[in-house]
Amino acid sequence: MSKPIIKSWWKHGVMYQIYPRSFKDSNNDGIGDLEGIIQSLDYLQDVGVDGIWLSPIYRSPMYDFGYDVSDYCSIDPIFGTIANFKKLLKEAEKRNIAIIMDMVLNHTSHLHPWFVESRSSVDNPKRDWYIWHPGKNGKVPNNWMAAFGGRAWTWDELTRHYYLHLFTEQQPDLNWHNPEVKKAMVDVLRYWLDMGVKGFRFDVINYIVKDINVRSNPYRLRLTYPRRHDLQVHIYDRNQPEIHDILKELRQLLDSYGDTMSVGETYPNEGEKEPAMAASYQGNNDELHLSFDFSTIYARFNAREFECILKNWYHAIGDSGWPCHVLSNHDQSRAITRLANNDVRKAKLLAVMLLTQKGTPFIYYGEEIGMVDGKIKRSQIQDPLGKKYWPFHKGRDKARTPMQWDVTPNAGFSNGKPWLPVNSDYVTTNVLQQQRNKQSILHLYKDCIAIRRLHPALYAGDIEFVSAPDDVLLYKRVFKNEHLMIALNFSKAKKDVTIGVKGEVLLSSCGNSSMHSSHSSIHGGTLTLDAYEAVIIKVQ
Ligand code: GLC
Repeated sequence: MSKPIIKSWWKHGVMYQIYPRSFKDSNNDGIGDLEGIIQSLDYLQDVGVDGIWLSPIYRSPMYDFGYDVSDYCSIDPIFGTIANFKKLLKEAEKRNIAIIMDMVLNHTSHLHPWFVESRSSVDNPKRDWYIWHPGKNGKVPNNWMAAFGGRAWTWDELTRHYYLHLFTEQQPDLNWHNPEVKKAMVDVLRYWLDMGVKGFRFDVINYIVKDINVRSNPYRLRLTYPRRHDLQVHIYDRNQPEIHDILKELRQLLDSYGDTMSVGETYPNEGEKEPAMAASYQGNNDELHLSFDFSTIYARFNAREFECILKNWYHAIGDSGWPCHVLSNHDQSRAITRLANNDVRKAKLLAVMLLTQKGTPFIYYGEEIGMVDGKIKRSQIQDPLGKKYWPFHKGRDKARTPMQWDVTPNAGFSNGKPWLPVNSDYVTTNVLQQQRNKQSILHLYKDCIAIRRLHPALYAGDIEFVSAPDDVLLYKRVFKNEHLMIALNFSKAKKDVTIGVKGEVLLSSCGNSSMHSSHSSIHGGTLTLDAYEAVIIKVQ
């Protein structure tokens, strides 16, 4: 295959997020593991994946399923060993797949030795590695709330101080005002980079520094988000200016390792579309390589709404940064359920949209086979967020159910009892069955990724939105002489779209041939799109 026009693999490549507990269990303890991922690499290569982002696999007491790390330089025995991880790196490299680690810089586990030391006495050398406060007038220091319920401050009887935790009380926040913390974390990053990982997804990176004077956030009224945490504007507990300088240093570190990358979870105020905030963390191409804009996660299935969100995102990123796109992750309802009422036709349209935007697409495991949100009973809830807020927020387990590989018991995920129930639709929605069906959503993903790889206009070109009837999103991707046009019909009715060009249909989401092509060519004038049809046209 010829070399892509742009150098950086993470710019032209396709990323795939694995939630390791739920991907493939090789030792039948009901929890996915590294060996299971190794066994699945041929599949991922066949899909066309260039990079894998692994949700945390470090040693952890698992109060937040790995996002509470107790040793950053080890692998939790549930997932395997360092030897398994090195094997994964090697096997992935053979298939030209890069491995990206999830790095939690904001907080550690309360069982991390740093915190154990820090809480042991007020004059412990690690005391200032975390955020301690004596309280104000016998009460908590300020009004900050934890995202997972209750106050963000927990009283520690031993030293009679509060410590800060923006998530669960088992996740104390590190004090990034202390340079020793940064130094320790840089050592951790080096440890994994030296081993061969090609970058990091930085967890809640816009939270890492807090107002040094711990001022209270202003309150505001919101009817749609009744959680107390969401009834304030988070101006003092996130997005502090010091974060930019830290990211500049981390960028220099990553760049010193060659073609590595970082992508930041830049979490907005819940439910809000804030592309400028996410974009700001790319700096002047000297901070994060990529940052997630959550606007698409909060969107509705509507052509004009997506057009507006995408335009805002490109505008916010400008010319110096690089966009990336995501529809689902381990914290949100899956896009096919949230946006598409579990309708595969709509999910195929979303896939074409995701894979034909300018920038790096991120696929969430199972998305490529149309896995829907699981139905989790109260007694089955594992997620601390669900335990705390049920029934108002039933937690994130629904998006973390086991990968559906085939029709054998437990969908081929495990021969043990899976840690979360397998979705009942696995008999019809699974990898094996879809590999055999050329019209499946899996083939659509594969075809679309293959087309993307062949056409610089898709992975390197500019994007231009074109006016179109209501319910239709129309845009051009252009690189030198290559022009592609993408038309997406968000409506359940057929739609005529005047495109005014001659072209060849490279892909249609409603097609029935192996390349999903239903119209072979268009001779200018009008293109008729079926309900929820998405097409990619090569303009002649
Ligand atoms: C991020 C992770 C989420 C985790 C939280 C606390 O938002 O994506 O899963 O619970 O950070 O670490």
